[in-house]
Amino acid sequence: MQIITGKAKIAAVLGWPIEHSRSPLLHNFWLQRHQIDGAYIPLAVKAEDFKDVIQTMKAAGFKGCNVTIPHKEAAYQCCDIVDETAKKMGSVNTLWFTEDGKICGTSTDGDGFVANLRDAGITLTNKKILILGAGGAARSVAYSLLQENAQITITNRTLERAEQLVQDLNSGRVIDWQSWTKELGSFDLLVNTTSLGMEGKEDFQFDLQNASKNLVVTDIVYVPRITPLLKAAEQKGLKTVEGLGMLLHQARLGFSKWFGVDPIVDHELTEFVANSLKK
Ligand SMILES: NC(=O)c1ccc[n+]([C@@H]2O[C@H](COP(=O)([O-])OP(=O)(O)OC[C@H]3O[C@@H](n4cnc5c(N)ncnc54)[C@H](OP(=O)(O)O)[C@@H]3O)[C@@H](O)[C@H]2O)c1
Repeated sequence: MQIITGKAKIAAVLGWPIEHSRSPLLHNFWLQRHQIDGAYIPLAVKAEDFKDVIQTMKAAGFKGCNVTIPHKEAAYQCCDIVDETAKKMGSVNTLWFTEDGKICGTSTDGDGFVANLRDAGITLTNKKILILGAGGAARSVAYSLLQENAQITITNRTLERAEQLVQDLNSGRVIDWQSWTKELGSFDLLVNTTSLGMEGKEDFQFDLQNASKNLVVTDIVYVPRITPLLKAAEQKGLKTVEGLGMLLHQARLGFSKWFGVDPIVDHELTEFVANSLKK
């Protein structure tokens, strides 16, 4: 049993709603594994209370927090110090408080995405990559792929959003949502960053028949763990990478800032969190 003392380091995840978050599970797994005197708690915080809660957490000695929907942009506004990634995103998902009272923030999704592919042995330099989607997650993924010198193409149901993303990134090109399946043959990696395929969302209509046999397919949706896109790719004999690893890897930076240990993502952790998704 993990017992905390008066010296415990405390971090949290803030969202509205927050019950669905797997972050407490995974951070407390690492705390226990590393026998750290600390805790990571879920806080259900309404948008109108967000800024006050952050200031109160800082005053109460919290080490920092993760933020999820709908707070990522508000969290960016609260920061005294942000890095280039956060500036490109205009949002953050990880905050930490410094000894002299500064609020620092970054967005870890993109790094988590790249680390997940690296774990699967996928190299990205000069690879031709098709990104489905142009929402918040697509922005993080696309930015990190460009840092890896990959060549990105973006397609999105709402074309203007894809065009805006390419313009903001100052790199990449856009193709029409209706034509991505026809153009699939010219890509090395297909990334789904839309919410299509997620449990409870509408059906995802796609066609992989033009894929080359070397195409790698990854989906950042992780509920279900094997999404319809990944299932179809597997059936076609293509290499696939599931999105759960991205969730686990993106959590590492916050943990190391708050608790002083850089934790690893391994089979035991992956299965532990995956089991919670079945419930
Ligand atoms: N594995 C991880 O760690 C991780 C991290 C972050 C997010 N995610 C997952 O990634 C997904 C997207 O998150 P987000 O924050 O980027 O959401 P978001 O900002 O709301 O963007 C949603 C994206 O999905 C597209 N979309 C939604 N419904 C669609 C439909 N019926 N047909 C075609 N496109 C549709 C949207 O297109 P429009 O622009 O046309 O609306 C947009 O590109 C979610 O499922 C989330 O759980 C996973």
